Amino acid sequence: MSNPCSCSIIGTGSYMPKRVVTNNDLEKLVDTSDEWITSRTGIKERRIAAVDETTSDMASEAARRAMTSAGIRPEDLDLIIVATVTPDMFFPSTACFVQKKIGAINAVGFDISAACSGFLFALQTARHFINGGSRKTALVIGAEKLSSLINWEDRNTCILFGDGAGAIIVRFDDSTDAPGKVLSSVMGSDGNLAHLLSVPGGASAQPITFDNVLSRTNTIHMEGRETFKHAVTRMCQASEEALMQAGLKTTDVDLVIPHQANRRIISVIAERLGIPEERTFINLDKYGNTSAATIPVALDEASRSGRLKRGDILLLVAFGGGFTWASSVIAW
Ligand code: COA
Repeated sequence: MSNPCSCSIIGTGSYMPKRVVTNNDLEKLVDTSDEWITSRTGIKERRIAAVDETTSDMASEAARRAMTSAGIRPEDLDLIIVATVTPDMFFPSTACFVQKKIGAINAVGFDISAACSGFLFALQTARHFINGGSRKTALVIGAEKLSSLINWEDRNTCILFGDGAGAIIVRFDDSTDAPGKVLSSVMGSDGNLAHLLSVPGGASAQPITFDNVLSRTNTIHMEGRETFKHAVTRMCQASEEALMQAGLKTTDVDLVIPHQANRRIISVIAERLGIPEERTFINLDKYGNTSAATIPVALDEASRSGRLKRGDILLLVAFGGGFTWASSVIAW
């Protein structure tokens, strides 16, 4: 077993669908307003995939961009992990479709389901494979077509979500000062709170029937206020734990890249951790909550926009259905 910090992010990529749906567009569907959505969530617009555009299509495009940024070929990959709750199909896995689309003939692929924490669960999983020595170069993706799970008549949820994909390339590197080094990762879950955020129907618990399609059980159901409270508590705890594991303090953090669910959640977390809000990365105004895709998309945008400097300490933190939560510290 190599040392626990032998894993580095060497490339990032993202893909967002072209179609923009604004808050004003949603005013025509449900009883809501741009003012309500903006003040309660910070979201102004979101991207919605084309009908024939799949999660693996978006994931594959993000993957190609990440491979270009890392300067590697598809054949160099030996592991593909896709975090998603909106797979193309129940099976085969979305990772297998990505493998085929990008031509990663030497990789093994599988999916991870941890809702909005999925990308950080996938990163942690890849890190174990790489630190354990059995894999060297991993493609880690968070990709979602949440529009396929939205009830467009439910104003509590339809305003929140969007589609998109982000990807990173993670590689074995045991030099101490390698850029993009993953310094720590923590994750947790509490299945007792599963009922607060779920898609109850459409799988084996409530297989698709005419009646449950009519009653929309196959769409996202959420207790927003309860979810908000747990999100704040768990994201703060996970951040503190990940920093402690890395031997760092909140004052060392140059940029927080949080899961993009609600601007108010991000503000409260920053305040509780004592990190100035200008050191948080926010793009939920443009994309809404894209579940597992939020963090890799934000990381890619932060990197491409020149916001990240070599050596910056990044705190990644997520929370999602399950409930699940996770955090990672990266030395960029
Ligand atoms: N437009 C207008 N009014 C709306 C609305 C909308 N889109 N959605 C809800 N409302 C109404 C509610 O019906 C309620 O009305 P009432 O007081 O007459 O019953 C009122 O606004 C307040 O609703 P509430 O749910 O308490 O609002 P909130 O301030 O908690 O904001 C969320 C709702 C969903 C934005 C917020 O709870 C949230 O972001 N929760 C966490 C979401 C999250 O993190 N999810 C994913 C985790 S991965």
